Amino acid sequence: MKDEKLDISIDQMSQDEVRTLAQWACSEGWNPGKADIELAWAFDPQAFIAMRRGDELIAAGTILSYGGQFGFMGLFIVRADLRGQGLGTQLWHHRRDRLLARLQPGATIGMDGVFDMVPFYTKGGFQFAWRDLRFEGIAHGHQDAQAIDLQSIPFEQVDRLDRRYFAFSRAPFLQSWIRQPGGQALGLIEAGELVAYGVVRPAQAGFKIGPVFARRADLAERLLGALFAKVEGHTVQLDVPEINEAALKLAVRFGLAESFGCARMYHGAAPQIEVSGVFGVTSFEFG
Ligand SMILES: CC(C)(COP(=O)(O)OP(=O)(O)OC[C@H]1O[C@@H](n2cnc3c(N)ncnc32)[C@H](O)[C@@H]1OP(=O)(O)O)[C@@H](O)C(=O)NCCC(=O)NCCS
Repeated sequence: MKDEKLDISIDQMSQDEVRTLAQWACSEGWNPGKADIELAWAFDPQAFIAMRRGDELIAAGTILSYGGQFGFMGLFIVRADLRGQGLGTQLWHHRRDRLLARLQPGATIGMDGVFDMVPFYTKGGFQFAWRDLRFEGIAHGHQDAQAIDLQSIPFEQVDRLDRRYFAFSRAPFLQSWIRQPGGQALGLIEAGELVAYGVVRPAQAGFKIGPVFARRADLAERLLGALFAKVEGHTVQLDVPEINEAALKLAVRFGLAESFGCARMYHGAAPQIEVSGVFGVTSFEFG
C-alpha cells in the first residue's frame, strides 16, 4: 500500500525495524519475553508489518499466520508523537485484511487488545470472548521431583497436549519456544502421557510464565510450583483467562496480584479450546 501524496506506505518490516518495534513494546510497558519477538520473526517474517513515512518507521503491528489455519494480531503501535491522527486506523484495517488474505477462507483471527480499544476492534468485526488478566509478584515455588524437562520427551506429546488448549498446530513456533535461550520448559506425565506443561522465560523485567496448560488444577499447581522454583525470588508475570476460576485462584495462592489485562477477541468463530486447562496464556502478542 502506498499513499503517494503523504509518502506513506505499508509493507513487510526489515530486521532493523523489528528491533525498533521491540523497543516500542518495551516503552509501552508490555515487558515482552527477551526472545519472543525474535522467535515470532523466525517463525513468520511476513507477519511483521511496517507503516513508513518515506523511509521512516512510524507505526507497526504483527499478523501471525499459524499455517493459514488461525491468525493472531499483536504489537499494534503508532509512534508516540503521531497518535490520534488516523494512522492507526489505516494500518489496523490493512493488517486485518492482509492477514485474512494469508489465511484459509473462514479462518479465525484472535487478539488480546487493551480494554480501551475494545469498541474500535468491535467495529472492525471482532467479538469479545473473555478477559486475560496479568498477575505479577515474586516467585515462590517448590521443587517437584516428578517434573520433567520437556526436551526429554518426544515433541509429538507436547504438540498433542498443546492442541487441546491452542486448537491449531504451531509445531515450529512451539519447538523454538520451549528451547529458547534462558527459558525452561517442564512437564508432568501420568500413565506415560504428558498431562501438563509450562514454560518460564526471561523478560525485559523479571520472568514470564507461559504457556501453562494442564488437564487438572492439581497438576497446574504442581507445575507452577516447579516453574516458580526455577526463578525463586524473581519477579514473574502470568497471564490468566478470567473465565478459568481455578487458574485465578492459583495465581492468588502463589502470591501474585493483578497488574494489567487485555480483552481476548476473535474475528470469526471462537476456536474450540479447553479454557479450563489454560492456566497461563503463551503471550498477549502472539496468542
Ligand atoms: C492504539 C494505537 C495504535 C492507535 O493508533 P492511532 O494512530 O492513535 O489511532 P487513530 O487515530 O487511527 O484512532 C484509532 C481508534 O483508536 C481509538 N484510540 C486510540 N487510542 C485510544 C485510547 N488510549 N483509548 C481509547 N481509544 C483509543 C481512537 O478513538 C480511534 O477510535 P474511533 O475510530 O472509534 O474513534 C496508538 O494509540 C498506540 O500506539 N497506543 C499505544 C499502544 C497500544 O495501546 N496499542 C494497542 C494495543 S491492543
